[in-house]
Amino acid sequence: MNWNPDEHYKSRKVASEYDRKRFASIPGRVFNHLEKRAITKCFASLPKGCIIADAPCGTGRLAEPLLAAGYRVHGLDISDEMLEMARQRLLRFPDRFACEVVDVKASRPSEPLYDAALCARVLMHFPLDQQIEFLTGVAKLSRSIVVINHSLDSSYQRFRRRVKHWLGNQASANHPVSNAEIKVLLQQSGLREMQRYRLVSLVSEAIYIVAERIAPAPAPAQAKPQTAAAVS
Ligand SMILES: C[S@@+](CC[C@H](N)C(=O)[O-])C[C@H]1O[C@@H](n2cnc3c(N)ncnc32)[C@H](O)[C@@H]1O
Repeated sequence: MNWNPDEHYKSRKVASEYDRKRFASIPGRVFNHLEKRAITKCFASLPKGCIIADAPCGTGRLAEPLLAAGYRVHGLDISDEMLEMARQRLLRFPDRFACEVVDVKASRPSEPLYDAALCARVLMHFPLDQQIEFLTGVAKLSRSIVVINHSLDSSYQRFRRRVKHWLGNQASANHPVSNAEIKVLLQQSGLREMQRYRLVSLVSEAIYIVAERIAPAPAPAQAKPQTAAAVS
């Protein structure tokens, strides 16, 4: 399949239709509401006023409830077209929302600039090696927790996906992950799982993980240079 998530959203048409195509139907609206609630709950331990990196921010769909809950949000996304939708949507938060175009897979900030980070609805579009690249970039943005959303691959969810496919529905996740793959993904991205939430497990494959950064191992102590006396 040629679908490329790094390029697909760099289109005004795609960006302007994004929310309507996914979240305008009744099930879409219910899902959207439950997902926003779940994401806000995942950040409940974070004091209000903290700044959250939303990567990728897309149209600002999930930044909105975080701003409404009293956080500041910095949106990062590879698509300026998607960010333009976010700017318009979030005009009422001029002092607490800002955004910029960034390729998160390629970005490796030398120090974390944000109190926490959100990574929603993107990892499942990439194969595992690129998921690790993306999530490593997100983890490096955060001083504390990273909230991740992913699609769980279980035999039940595979069955559900097959039924949806027979019914002519488009797959929502090209690269859902098993629990073993989630472990690899988090560990190789420098994260450790703390908590996990599901929306409605019989209806949705979406999972929400609150992870914390694994402190990098301390650098080995430098061997002291030997003095001339010690050498002799
Ligand atoms: C399905 S949207 C999800 C947006 C938002 N998180 C949400 O839940 O509504 C996926 C987003 O990932 C962005 N994206 C894809 N590749 C990216 C990359 N390498 N760096 C930053 N953003 C990327 C796309 O531009 C798009 O806005």
